[in-house]
Amino acid sequence: MALYLITGVAGFIGSGLARAVLAQGDQVRGIDNLSTGRRENLTEIKDGIDFREADLLDLDAVHAACKGADYVLHQAAIPSVPKSVVDPLGSNRANVDATVNVLVGARDAKVKRVVYAASSSAYGDTPTLPKREDMPPNPISPYAVAKLASEYYMVSFYRCYGLETVCLRYFNIFGPRQDPSSPYSGVLAKFITQMLRGEQPTIFGDGSQSRDFTYIDNAVEANLLACKAPAEQAAGRVFNIATGRRVDLNETFLTLKQIIGYKGEVKHAPERAGDIKHSLADMSRAEKHLGYKPKVDFEEGLRRTIEWYRKSL
Ligand code: UD1
Repeated sequence: MALYLITGVAGFIGSGLARAVLAQGDQVRGIDNLSTGRRENLTEIKDGIDFREADLLDLDAVHAACKGADYVLHQAAIPSVPKSVVDPLGSNRANVDATVNVLVGARDAKVKRVVYAASSSAYGDTPTLPKREDMPPNPISPYAVAKLASEYYMVSFYRCYGLETVCLRYFNIFGPRQDPSSPYSGVLAKFITQMLRGEQPTIFGDGSQSRDFTYIDNAVEANLLACKAPAEQAAGRVFNIATGRRVDLNETFLTLKQIIGYKGEVKHAPERAGDIKHSLADMSRAEKHLGYKPKVDFEEGLRRTIEWYRKSL
């Protein structure tokens, strides 16, 4: 039985990982400062995991959490582009300084592998689509810079200390439990809950921006595969985790409108600073080296997500 340390375990992705690790018969230790994570995300599994409320900036807590862990799934972050534009120092502390602490803790505890929640925002606004991992990154927002810096730290800990690290560049993960309540929440969580409540969603810009929206179960599966893939294929490397299809926001709104049965219209507001225009992943590296194939497509993911919010609102 392996022990997985999940950082950001009370978050939407972290809690999904915790359930999946328990389901495969392994043990979970989780750490979260509850800044964006919520205890409710852990309700059904709280008795089955070792949960520690602590901040990753506390190196002693990180060392203690890493002790005896086989794998670390590093999900904790302040995962927002606009928030990083408002508070670049806070973004850097949570998204970079905390990562270095996790790496030091993992190295000292001799964990087998660290899997990192990297971000497609690293690609920035380069015109070429789909994005391949060997393209030069071009981050725009402080958030994207922080996520990319942490990727480089992951790779450097592999090269300098032999700690196996794998970076998964997530492309707009969505699904049940994603927090819709903050102005910095992911667009699908916001739109779905607004439309279910009969409120009017806002598109920033003209809505022609597109994303490779990826259902949570695909990201969870990618993490488990990244722990098991042979080191020669995975360690020290970066992988896109997505579905390989992009949808623009106008089309997304119309699809949601149809599934939800929403009668209203969308309103528009100015484009957001730091936003990228288009995002689409080339999936071949993850497929070849991790055996990753997205199992849930965009529409099915939307249906499951809407269903969940309908029940939980
Ligand atoms: C998202 C993630 C980020 C991740 C990245 C790549 C969130 C909050 N952010 O960034 O952590 O690293 O994908 O996986 O999940 N928009 C609207 N109206 C709204 C909210 C957003 O039009 O009410 C627009 C934004 O301007 C943007 C698009 O929707 O063009 C997506 O925004 P958002 O969901 O915040 O995600 P990203 O910035 O793409």
